[in-house]
Amino acid sequence: MSKKITSILTVIIFLAGCSHLFAQIQTGKPLPASGEEKKILAVLDDMDRNQRQGMMNVPVDDGRLLRLLTEATNAQHVVEIGTSNGYSGIWFCLALNKTGGKLTTYEIDARRAALARENFRRAGVSNMVTLIEGDAHEQVMKLKEPVDIVFLDADKTGYIDYLNKLLPLVRPGGLIIAHNMSPRMADPAYIKAITSDPRLETIFLNMEAAGVGVTLMKR
Ligand SMILES: C[S@@+](CC[C@H](N)C(=O)[O-])C[C@H]1O[C@@H](n2cnc3c(N)ncnc32)[C@H](O)[C@@H]1O
Repeated sequence: MSKKITSILTVIIFLAGCSHLFAQIQTGKPLPASGEEKKILAVLDDMDRNQRQGMMNVPVDDGRLLRLLTEATNAQHVVEIGTSNGYSGIWFCLALNKTGGKLTTYEIDARRAALARENFRRAGVSNMVTLIEGDAHEQVMKLKEPVDIVFLDADKTGYIDYLNKLLPLVRPGGLIIAHNMSPRMADPAYIKAITSDPRLETIFLNMEAAGVGVTLMKR
């Protein structure tokens, strides 16, 4: 066997060994720490397996990220634009259940809003959720209370309008999270707004999938 072939084989064997290591450090499934969490996670799992069709839900990893950011910031009020069937909303509720906070979520489509209500009910989180049916561009103007987290996941060209309307309500230390930040989907005007304002600090996560923008309203 030539020296060249031996070196190539050595590299392949080394990479195969590494992939085994990577496999061991994968995130794994979310583990419920209580009966309540178990019930909510079971509904999320059912929605993931049986309701995704036509619902445009966030991927599981992005849902976990939403929960993590909400719990870590001890959020008391999350505002979500684009409820769909309530999948991402229930990930927020998993955290709000611990922080004692609430979710205000907006959906323009009556059929998806009805399905969301049913999903919130069976997850046992309806008491934390206010679902507002209608065009969020108009409806958010009625919001007056402080907001800890804004989650944008509706009409992509509308993100800049939602940002302009909701930023004044976001508390210092709060977050604006935007879904579908991949260059193929994101509105350049929104990207510019969150990356050129000195009051804000933005990073992009999970860009190998749909992409999530996480923007901090600096203190
Ligand atoms: C990508 S889906 C939301 C998915 C949801 N966040 C999840 O991960 O489970 C976008 C939703 O936004 C809704 N939507 C679009 N434009 C809207 C508007 N102007 N006001 C309120 N909802 C809107 C759509 O009907 C759709 O259900």
